[in-house]
Amino acid sequence: MLTESDFFASSQTALPDEGRYSWSAPSNIAIVKYWGKKDNQIPANPSASITLNRCQTMTNVSFKKSSSPGFDLYFDGEKKDAFRPKISKFLERIAPYCPYLDRLQLTIETSNTFPHSSGIASSASGMAALAVNVMSIERLMNPEMTDEYFNRKASFLARLGSGSACRSIDGKIVVWGNHRDVESSDLYGVPFEKIHREFEGYKDTILLVDKGEKKVSSSAGHDLMHKHPFAQQRFDQAHENLSDLLRIFETGDLDGFVKLAESEALTLHSMMMTSMPYFILMRPNTLEIINRIWNFRADTNIPVCFTLDAGANVHLLYPAQFESEVNELIKSDLSRFCQNDHYICDEMGTGAVQLTQSENIG
Ligand code: PMV
Repeated sequence: MLTESDFFASSQTALPDEGRYSWSAPSNIAIVKYWGKKDNQIPANPSASITLNRCQTMTNVSFKKSSSPGFDLYFDGEKKDAFRPKISKFLERIAPYCPYLDRLQLTIETSNTFPHSSGIASSASGMAALAVNVMSIERLMNPEMTDEYFNRKASFLARLGSGSACRSIDGKIVVWGNHRDVESSDLYGVPFEKIHREFEGYKDTILLVDKGEKKVSSSAGHDLMHKHPFAQQRFDQAHENLSDLLRIFETGDLDGFVKLAESEALTLHSMMMTSMPYFILMRPNTLEIINRIWNFRADTNIPVCFTLDAGANVHLLYPAQFESEVNELIKSDLSRFCQNDHYICDEMGTGAVQLTQSENIG
C-alpha cells in the first residue's frame, strides 16, 4: 500500500505551455457506509461501494502556464461562481501534492449526465472527474507513471475534495479504509476484484423521492459522529459488515447481500436520528417504497433490496437477470412515490474514463 509520502509529485520533464484534458467520472453507491471522519478526510470506518455507470460528471480542464494562476469555472456552459468555494478548497488541499498547479491558469468546464436538481450528490463524481484531469497534467511531467499509480493518486486527491469521491476512480466495487481482511487504505480507494458472476452488471435504479437540496449536508452529518453516543459501536459494526460483504461479493450470496445492504442503510439513518442535534432525511414516500419492496420480495422471492445515501432517495438494487420484473414493479407501483414519477436506471460501471475530442462537452 502507498503512504502519503508517495503522493508528493516528482517531475522528470517540464510541463508544456498549455494543454487540455477531458474525463468522465461516475457516482458510486456505498453498501457499507462511511459516516464519521477524522482530520484530513480520513474515514472513521472502512466502506465499500458499487461504482455506477450512467450517473457521471464530465469535466474538461484546459491549462496554460501563467504568472497569475487561478481558475475559471463553467457548469453547463455558464460561469458558476456558486461552485467556486468547493473547487478553491479542493485546489488548496491538493496543492502540497501537486505543486505544479500554482504555475497554471485552469479553465474547468463541467456538466452532469443526471439533472442537477435530482437530489443526487455530484460531489463524488465531480471531485473524481477533476482529480483524474489533474493527474493527466501530472503525467505529462512524469510519462513513465503506471496506471496503478495514476489511479491511486487520483483517488487520493479526490478524497481530499469529498471522501466518497475516492471510490469513483477505478473498479466495479471499491473498498476505502483500513481493514484487517483486505489490502486497503485510509488514503485512497482500492478495487475489489473477487466479484462473483451473480453481482456482475448489478442494477441500481434510483427512485427520486425528493429532488431538493439536502437539509443537512454530509459534512455536518460526519461531524455529528464526533460526540455520538453510539459512534464506537457503529465503527466496529462497519468493520464486521465489511468482512461479511466481501465474502458475499466473492461467493454470490444474494440473500446475505439483501440483509446487509438494508441494515447498513437503516443504520446510517439511525445514526442521524440519534445524533445531537438529531435529524431525519427520509420522507414518508421513502418508507412507503421500502415497505413495498419488502412486500414484493416476500411475494416473489426476487432478491431486490434498497439502500439509501444521505437523503430521501431510494436506491433499488437487484441482479441484472430480474430487470424486467423489477421494472414492472417500478412502473406499476413505485414510480408514483417519486417526485414527478422520476427515477434513474443505473448499473455497475468500471470507473473514470478519458474522453476523446468528439465525446467531450466543450
Ligand atoms: O463523501 P461525503 O462526505 O459526501 O460522504 C458520503 C456519505 C454517504 O454517502 C452517506 C456514505 C458513503 O459512504 O458514501
